[in-house]
Amino acid sequence: MIDLNAYLNEKRILIENALREIFISLKDVPGILKDSMEYMLFSNGKKIRPILALATCESLGKPVDNLLPFACAIEMIHTYSLIHDDLPSMDNDDFRRGKPTCHRVFGEAIAILTGDALLTEAFRIMSDSRYTEGVSPRIVKKIIFEIAKAAGAEGMVAGQAMDIMYDGREGSKSIVDYIHTHKTCALIRASVRVGAIMGGAKKRELAALTRYGECVGLAFQIVDDVLDIEGDEEIVGKKLKKDRTKQTYVKHYGLATSKLKVEKLVEEAEKCVQFLGEKAELLKGLASYIGSRNF
Ligand code: IPE
Ligand code: IPE
Ligand code: MG
Ligand code: MG
Ligand code: MG
Repeated sequence: MIDLNAYLNEKRILIENALREIFISLKDVPGILKDSMEYMLFSNGKKIRPILALATCESLGKPVDNLLPFACAIEMIHTYSLIHDDLPSMDNDDFRRGKPTCHRVFGEAIAILTGDALLTEAFRIMSDSRYTEGVSPRIVKKIIFEIAKAAGAEGMVAGQAMDIMYDGREGSKSIVDYIHTHKTCALIRASVRVGAIMGGAKKRELAALTRYGECVGLAFQIVDDVLDIEGDEEIVGKKLKKDRTKQTYVKHYGLATSKLKVEKLVEEAEKCVQFLGEKAELLKGLASYIGSRNF
């Protein structure tokens, strides 16, 4: 039996240490930018995306050492997305991960630039031979493409743009499905796929794991919508009851159906990884954690 909490803690520390190493190696960065990057990179994030990448790779029986820089890059991209998401011109939020948002501490201009820096550095790390030595160039290119596609104009940014455009509008089930699958699901799906690619997944395994990523990715955002209504601000670490004008799952499907949908998605995710046999336990555990998290 896997102790999931112990696993999550262990991997969080592993990722944090790797991020620290990357951060320390940045020498020639203006003080305020370095401070704001540090403030956001080492705040209390769950690190669920890099953990999913590592767990997928491990479940395929492969070591994660070579994957670690890519997992860090994913977390850096996610962190950039949160900084920009919180800006006054976007969701205008004052709290994130239990503390004031980046722009509240460093000002809007530096917050924007901190996001720019994290996004750009993520791609520098993935293409820096210092970090990718043990990985074949073909795999490196494949992973960079995967992450770029998920984060870009057809992925997360597409979802964020629609989220903003439809703020305060009627919307529909298909609009909210589009928003959620893009703004949140795309990067989570990519995290699983990157782990699978590094783990040497065969075509059919990759397809099953991709569907697993889609299920947990959508479940993750539905839970976020539910937490906005029912969560505890102290635990969640951000201001809640802020989604009234937004396209949320709860708005279009109702609270009960949203929760049911999360359960269904977790079940489907668990089925997707059956092919791993005994090794499925970890990814099943993570799916269930994503479906039942309270922060
Ligand atoms: C928050 O992501 C944004 C959403 C996609 C809902 P997380 O809930 O993963 O945020 P951190 O990294 O743990 O703070
Ligand atoms: C954000 O969605 C998704 C991102 C890509 C950052 P939300 O706007 O719902 O995330 P929170 O609730 O602010 O964390
Ligand atoms: Mg938002
Ligand atoms: Mg937001
Ligand atoms: Mg939210």
